[in-house]
Amino acid sequence: MLYIKQLLQEGKTIEGEVTLQGWVRTFRSNRFIALNDGSTIHNLQVVVDFENTPEETLKRITTGAAIEVKGQVVESQGKGQNVELQASEVIILGDSNPEEYPIQPKKHSLEFLRENAHLRVRTNAFGAIMRVRSTLAYAIHKYFQDNGFFYVNTPIITGSDAEGAGEMFRVTTLDAKKPPLNENGEVDYKKDFFGRETNLTVSGQLEGETFAMALGKIYTFGPTFRAENSNTSRHLAEFWMIEPEMAFFDLIDNMNLAEDFIKSVLKYTLEVRRDDIEFLNARFLEEEKSKPQQERSSMSLIEKLEFVIHNDFKRVSYTEAIDILKNCNHNKKKKFQYLIDEWGVDLQSEHERYLVEKHFGCPVILYDYPAKIKAFYMRLNDDGKTVRAMDILFPGIGEIVGGSQREERYEVLKQKIADLGMDEQTLWWYLDLRKFGTATHSGFGLGFERLVLFATGMTNIRDVIPYPRTPQSAEF
Ligand code: 4AD
Ligand code: MG
Repeated sequence: MLYIKQLLQEGKTIEGEVTLQGWVRTFRSNRFIALNDGSTIHNLQVVVDFENTPEETLKRITTGAAIEVKGQVVESQGKGQNVELQASEVIILGDSNPEEYPIQPKKHSLEFLRENAHLRVRTNAFGAIMRVRSTLAYAIHKYFQDNGFFYVNTPIITGSDAEGAGEMFRVTTLDAKKPPLNENGEVDYKKDFFGRETNLTVSGQLEGETFAMALGKIYTFGPTFRAENSNTSRHLAEFWMIEPEMAFFDLIDNMNLAEDFIKSVLKYTLEVRRDDIEFLNARFLEEEKSKPQQERSSMSLIEKLEFVIHNDFKRVSYTEAIDILKNCNHNKKKKFQYLIDEWGVDLQSEHERYLVEKHFGCPVILYDYPAKIKAFYMRLNDDGKTVRAMDILFPGIGEIVGGSQREERYEVLKQKIADLGMDEQTLWWYLDLRKFGTATHSGFGLGFERLVLFATGMTNIRDVIPYPRTPQSAEF
């Protein structure tokens, strides 16, 4: 099989008759087909020999139709391409009624395309986004495999709430209308499929830690579920997360790894997917034009990627960040929705973005957060009030990574679990790690779609996953 990507690369060195299959993007003057087969953002110009092509066939070459073409690769007479295909034969494989086909050769709104998510990948932008997504996923596996990490598949159905936020989707086979009740009149989960309450995982971290404490360096890359009712452009109910976990790594090692990892995968993707990113770059610049001057990005998409690849991330403690935020003019003029008045408050995305976009102008790693606003498993610092947490904040995105050094001390962890009123019973195996050969260890979670957002210059997370799952929406 020959694909357009290869044909365009090899050009005129391809001799003899070739056969290609793809979808018609446009057909003009009864002569020129722009053919795309998904292998590249570029279309192949197919020149139809209309005198020798039946009228009936010409009529059926419509936008969206699947066709097969046979012909010779020749130098192009027209502008815009070096070579084209001089077709000797066009065969219609699947018609596409132009009256009904939603994807017309014109600019559609992103909202309209979301409603037609099964077809939107046939547009230039979504084709490019999904190819970039695929390459990023490969780059992530490659980075870890090249650096001595093992890939672990942690369970999707779990009995524990790793983040302790309680934002979980229950997994049950009980009859929703008439669930069995126990003597207290509560739902009796002992009668449920697993004999206990279970839910879709919010993180593979806890199980990941058990593997790191045997294999040394591991990572997960899988679907993650959060039942938080956040209808924002950064949240999905189902998203993909990459969670490396490393034995004998402290928080600094963890930050160093996270920074190197992000830079490497972006660099690889920018090299391999240059064509697609150039297309997205042009699209990004076009979108920026429609914004008021002061909101426009000072960099193009490619410049933003280059900037992140080549510059150090700024490392700032939570306490320093609060000082900056408390004293900034934005706060004093009450321009934040949530004003920063005291140490200990959780940062909202408006604060994260202020730090990254206005104050530092580069990616920021915030560390040593107040224990109260972070998950139970993070290592307590000697000050007794902060934990060895780190979040990486990105321009235009806010938090892209959340991680920490883990609490490796049995007694401290047990106390923390008790203080938070968590169920120690369901975490017995997690506590066991602290009983048998415990050691310093660390890890982090990268939200895959947030990385894809950054790499593609898109602004809504619903546009970088094939079929978004958000509150009140699970079509397709
Ligand atoms: O900060 P989070 O909640 O951290 C964890 O789950 C840890 N267990 C990770 C670890 O240390 N192994 O989530 C990690 C990242 C966030 O920084 C964000 O990028 C992404 O996951 N994320 C989401 N992405 C899309 N939609 C959501 N609802 C997300 N929630 C978190
Ligand atoms: Mg987080």
